[in-house]
Amino acid sequence: MNLNIDIKNVFEFIPESEILALQNESAAKLASLKKGEGEGNDFLGWMNLPSSITEEELVSIENTASRLAGKSDVVVVIGIGGSYLGAKAVNDALSHNFEMLKEKRESPLMIFAGHNIGEDYMQELTETLDSYNYSIVVISKSGTTTEPALAFRILKDHLTAKVGTEEAVSRIVALTDESKGALRQLAEQEGFETYVIPDDVGGRFSVFTPVGLVPLAISGFDIRELVSGAIAMEEKCLASDSYEENPALLYAATRNALYRSGKKIEILVNYHNKLHYISEWWKQLFGESEGKDGKGIFPAAVDNSTDLHSMGQYIQEGERILFETVISVKKSEHNVKVPSDVKDLDKLNYLAGKRIDEVNKMAELGTTLAHIDGGVPNIRIEIPEINAKNLGGLMQFFEIACGISGYMLNVNPFNQPGVEAYKKNMFALLEKPGFEEETKLIKERL
Ligand code: PA5
Repeated sequence: MNLNIDIKNVFEFIPESEILALQNESAAKLASLKKGEGEGNDFLGWMNLPSSITEEELVSIENTASRLAGKSDVVVVIGIGGSYLGAKAVNDALSHNFEMLKEKRESPLMIFAGHNIGEDYMQELTETLDSYNYSIVVISKSGTTTEPALAFRILKDHLTAKVGTEEAVSRIVALTDESKGALRQLAEQEGFETYVIPDDVGGRFSVFTPVGLVPLAISGFDIRELVSGAIAMEEKCLASDSYEENPALLYAATRNALYRSGKKIEILVNYHNKLHYISEWWKQLFGESEGKDGKGIFPAAVDNSTDLHSMGQYIQEGERILFETVISVKKSEHNVKVPSDVKDLDKLNYLAGKRIDEVNKMAELGTTLAHIDGGVPNIRIEIPEINAKNLGGLMQFFEIACGISGYMLNVNPFNQPGVEAYKKNMFALLEKPGFEEETKLIKERL
C-alpha cells in the first residue's frame, strides 16, 4: 500500500534541520520498541500482529461470521473504547453512506451498544431490535467494564426472550481474556462461542485481533484485505531507520518537533465524511497513549468541509497552539459532475463539468494554504483511496508511529492509569461492594 507523508508545510515553522536532527532519536525509540526494552514492553503484541495472524485463525473467524450472518439482519457489537472504535471506524469508512436505509443487504448491518450509558439509547435499541433478527458480539478484554456489561445483560435477556435460550446462545460470540474476568466466566458457563483477546495487546491497538476482525467479517467486510494492508505497513514501518523509507518515523518525529516548539494540539483533518470514526479511533490511540505525566499532544479532529463552517474560525485565527495532520484521499469512489444550467441563477456554471471531488480537492488545498498563512503547520498523509487494504495500512502506520512518538515523549504509551479515576468515583457513588471507604469519602465531598 502506498502512503505518502509530506511535511514541507512544517518548514515555515520549524527548520527542516530540526526535524532531521530527530532522526536518530526517533530511530532509537523504534529500536527499543522492536527490542522490547522500553516501558510497557509487556504490551507489544500489536507490533507484529498482522503478519502473525494464521490462515487457521482467519478461516475460523470467517466460519463464525458466515454462521451468524446466515441468521441475522443485524449484528449488535457491544464494547467501549478500544473494544469498539476499530470495528466502528472500518465499518463506517467502508459502508455506503445510507446503509441504514437499504432495503436489501447481503450482510448484517453493524450497530453498537455498551459504548455509552444512555437509558434512552438502550430503550430505543431494544424496541428496534424487536423487529429484527440479530446476533451479538460482546467484547471486553478485562471482562469487567461496566458499560458493555450493562448493555450485554439487557440484550442477552432481550435476545433470549425473543428466540429462546438455545438459539440465543448460538447467536452470541464473546471476545475476552483467555482466562480472567467476569465475561470469560459467563461465556463458559452459558456456552457462548469465544475468541481470545491476546494478553499483550491493549484495547486501542486491538483492531487486527478478533476485536476488529470478528464484527467486520460478520458484516461482510474483507478482513483479508484489511490484514494484508496492515502486514505491508508493518513490514515497511518496522524495517527502516530512515525517514525516506519509514513514514511512521517521520510522522512521530515531526509531531514531536512541533510539540516541543509549543504546538500542543494536533487536529486530524479529513475531507471524506466516511473517515469520521477513523479520527475517533486515532483520538483514542494517541490520547490514551500519550496524555499522561502532565504531558502529551492533545488529539482533536475535524471533518471538512463541514467543520470549516464551525471550527474553521478557531483554526484560522484562534490561539496559535495548533498543527494539522490532513488525511488526503487521492481518488474518490464515484464520479459525479456538476451539471450546467441554462439560467445559471445560482452562478455555478463556472464549475459545470467539473467533478465534485475536484471542488473538494480545491477546498482542501485552499484551506491548507489559508491555515499555513494563519500560523498552523501542516502534515499531509496521502492514501490512494478508501478501501480495506489502505485502511489496514493506515491504522498499522498510526499504531507504530504512536509507539515511537510516546517513547519520544518519555511516557509509557501502553498503559492508561488515568482511566481508572472516574470508575473509582462512579463505583463509590453507586455503592459497589468493596468500595465502602471510597463511598464514605466521596459522600463527604458532596
Ligand atoms: O484502550 C484501552 O485499553 C481501553 O480503551 C479499553 O479498550 C476500554 O476501556 C474497554 O476495556 P475492556 O475491553 O476491558 O472492556
